[in-house]
Amino acid sequence: MDHRLGPVSQVEDGPVSQVEDEEEEEEDPCCNISKKAKIWGILLFVLVLSAILGVVFGVLKLHQAPQLKKWQGAGTTLHFREIVLGRCYAYTQLMKPELRVKDCQKIVGAFMGAVLSKDPCGFTEEDYQPLIKLTNQTVPCDKTLFWSKSRELAHQYTEVQQEMFTLENTLLGYMVDGLKWCGDAGSSELNYQSCPDWRGDCANNTMSVFWDTVSKRFAENACGVVQVLLNGSFSNAFNKNSTFGRVEIYNLHPDKVSTLQAWVMDNIEDVHSDSCSASSINDLKSILSNRNIKFTCQSNYRPIKFLQCVKNPEHSSCNSLI
Ligand SMILES: *[C@@H]1O[C@H](CO)[C@@H](O)[C@H](O)[C@H]1NC(C)=O
Ligand SMILES: *[C@@H]1O[C@H](CO)[C@@H](O)[C@H](O)[C@H]1NC(C)=O
Ligand SMILES: *[C@@H]1O[C@H](CO)[C@@H](O)[C@H](O)[C@H]1NC(C)=O
Ligand SMILES: *[C@@H]1O[C@H](CO)[C@@H](O)[C@H](O)[C@H]1NC(C)=O
Repeated sequence: MDHRLGPVSQVEDGPVSQVEDEEEEEEDPCCNISKKAKIWGILLFVLVLSAILGVVFGVLKLHQAPQLKKWQGAGTTLHFREIVLGRCYAYTQLMKPELRVKDCQKIVGAFMGAVLSKDPCGFTEEDYQPLIKLTNQTVPCDKTLFWSKSRELAHQYTEVQQEMFTLENTLLGYMVDGLKWCGDAGSSELNYQSCPDWRGDCANNTMSVFWDTVSKRFAENACGVVQVLLNGSFSNAFNKNSTFGRVEIYNLHPDKVSTLQAWVMDNIEDVHSDSCSASSINDLKSILSNRNIKFTCQSNYRPIKFLQCVKNPEHSSCNSLI
């Protein structure tokens, strides 16, 4: 390159160009033109060079630091894709081998396809339909367990009663339980910096729409006697704003679901005998009666009380349990 740009470098080299200038004064007619040509050449070169540099840096900048939108919630869980893929294989190959025909690569591909390059505040149920189709799974009748404000205890119970299913015991729920994720309209990557917050940013965000959509499907598929584990330590053990109170009860099919059986569990430190007669439980009862689904309620259901006592064996209410 240096060789071809000879004239330019000569002009830049002080002493050489001085010599040239002296020589040029003697060769009269040509020198004015060649001097102009040299200046134009330099200008052109500088222009082309800066244009090239501009493009190169522009591309590099796009690659390195995409301008992701900033949200109020925590960003995508690190290694999200790997975690979801690993959980999919663990679930379908080890935990529920009857699902081993599921294609985890395809499932995770569908997940990414649903989320990437999209505004995380413009989600609808339709966005997750391909994923939901790929992960269909049959939960046997009488084995569905909903929960509200009792997540940990519900999962301890299904850990022991392996034939029971909370949403997080189904493939789709299991894959993303406890994770955060969102993409960005202007990037084909996940946003690890921040994701929309339900309150602070938007309700129709990547994760809220996911949980509402899969909760709805989970309830639609329930049959027989279904259970719900509620937290008696809250005055509104049944909360109309919870996923259970907003989505799940309204998507039970009365022709498939005969009865909803509530287990209201108090914290071991403050056991009430009458948790089933709380006014919020009455609200639940009347919603179900309007939907032609039978309702029964039991406070401090013994099998689950045992689980609480495993953690707290010395508590007086655990002495008389057997
Ligand atoms: C999502 O919610 C935001 C406001 O929270 C609204 O502006 C937007 O139109 C909604 N998008 C869709 C697709 O419903
Ligand atoms: C999922 O759906 C397909 C097609 O509808 C069906 O053949 C398959 O049995 C379903 N799998 C499960 C586990 O329900
Ligand atoms: C009820 O909620 C409280 C507060 O979130 C929690 O500490 C407790 O374990 C819950 N109780 C049950 C029975 O799930
Ligand atoms: C449900 O949400 C609405 C609005 O977000 C709020 O005004 C109301 O107090 C909530 N109800 C309960 C039972 O938490």
